[in-house]
Amino acid sequence: MLPVVDFIHTNRDRYVSELKKYLAIPSISALPERANDVLRCAEWTVEELKAIGLENVRLIETPGHPIVYGEWLHAPDAPTMLFYGHYDVQPVDPLELWESPPFEATVRDGEIYARGAADDKGQVFMHCKAIEAFFKTEGRLPVNIKVLIEGEEEVGSKNLDKFVQANKKLLAADVVVISDSAMFDRGVPSICYSLRGLAYFQIDLRGTKSDLHSGVFGGAVANPAMVLAQMLAQMKDKGGRIKIPGFYDDVRAVSAEERAAWQKLPFNEKKYRKDLGAPKLAGEREYSVLERVWARPTFEVNGILSGFTGDGAKTVIPAVAMAKVSMRLVPDQHPDKVAELFEAYAKKVAPKTVELKLTRMHGGRPWITEYGNPFVQAAGRAIEQGFGKTPVYCREGGSIPVVSTFQEELGVPAVLFGVGLPDENAHAPNERLDLSNFHNGIVASAAFYSEIARLRA
Ligand code: BES
Ligand code: MN
Ligand code: MN
Repeated sequence: MLPVVDFIHTNRDRYVSELKKYLAIPSISALPERANDVLRCAEWTVEELKAIGLENVRLIETPGHPIVYGEWLHAPDAPTMLFYGHYDVQPVDPLELWESPPFEATVRDGEIYARGAADDKGQVFMHCKAIEAFFKTEGRLPVNIKVLIEGEEEVGSKNLDKFVQANKKLLAADVVVISDSAMFDRGVPSICYSLRGLAYFQIDLRGTKSDLHSGVFGGAVANPAMVLAQMLAQMKDKGGRIKIPGFYDDVRAVSAEERAAWQKLPFNEKKYRKDLGAPKLAGEREYSVLERVWARPTFEVNGILSGFTGDGAKTVIPAVAMAKVSMRLVPDQHPDKVAELFEAYAKKVAPKTVELKLTRMHGGRPWITEYGNPFVQAAGRAIEQGFGKTPVYCREGGSIPVVSTFQEELGVPAVLFGVGLPDENAHAPNERLDLSNFHNGIVASAAFYSEIARLRA
């Protein structure tokens, strides 16, 4: 390991300047007008995979944004790992809240600020540099590696899901490795063994064929904004429990053992609340905060639009109202089943005074794995080499839709070791990545490949 680690230490500045170039490409998968930038980012990723020494590197077209693939399979006695990550990023609005432009990566106080710094280009790049370090120092990798980097994670991974189902042979591996999550806290590296799933909807209501004078017609027709508010208000009770019938049927309870392990984690509820700037935390009182975000499902309103919202006042009854809502799901809920339950309930609570349209957007299954398997243990040893600390085991509240697809279609365990931080503003203004975590993460990734190699095939 030593020459590899030396190489990594001496190349630190080069890594940062290269990463800046990756972060400069505005690969926002959700915005159609950015499609060309997303493509450019896929091409950049292809060139990077070639440059670090991978073989059979290619850009694979999909009906949406391309997938990038590369491999190196010349370690006959070692296992094969499939590395997965995404090169697409979230939109950047509200732009005025960024302290430096989102696509001009800027280093301040040891953190690199840019959209995609933590989620997920920085973490993808960390593995690229670990791979490169082996080729530069030893001319080979200790393990067989397949690299799969997609451009549609932030919009639900629909095309990747199909690609995995259709290419099981190409992707066959002993373990899936992903760095697309956060550490438990600064100085507390972690391994993530469960993610929540997702069911996302758009709700459209129409009350009349046009906006109306609220004096002339007010009182005789429904107000869709009001109806929407009333409908949304019926989704949860005061205690934070979701009222959709059957919603909790498949929720797996947290074992006493797991709960006890979480109680030992260095979590300070007061600091958590203060850091978030929340006057008071909300949610189901009978569950701890970690249980609420890791092991309980949610119903959230992601956005609402209706009526007049400009300066001043306008007396109007809006014709339409719209909301984007999503539910985070936990094992063993299924997004399709939950979607049906939600649709039935939304139809039931919608009055006859409005037209209701429900549109299913993306979804994803929750994921959970046993963490006793040898690959997870190997990752633990590797993280210790990179960070000088043994990792804690945690769940995460976010979703990576393809992880459960890998588990089901390829039948292999996934190891999630992320080096972001919970306060690094993923999806928000001023996203950043701590450069010492990035750097330690390169060492840990390299160490992980060596540890996997020892597990022999
Ligand atoms: N990297 C995140 C998921 C994540 C965040 C996992 C924090 C663990 C901790 C990923 O890029 C993401 O944002 N996923 C979306 C999925 C959705 C668009 C289908 C999410 O969770 O909202
Ligand atoms: Mn991500
Ligand atoms: Mn994301």
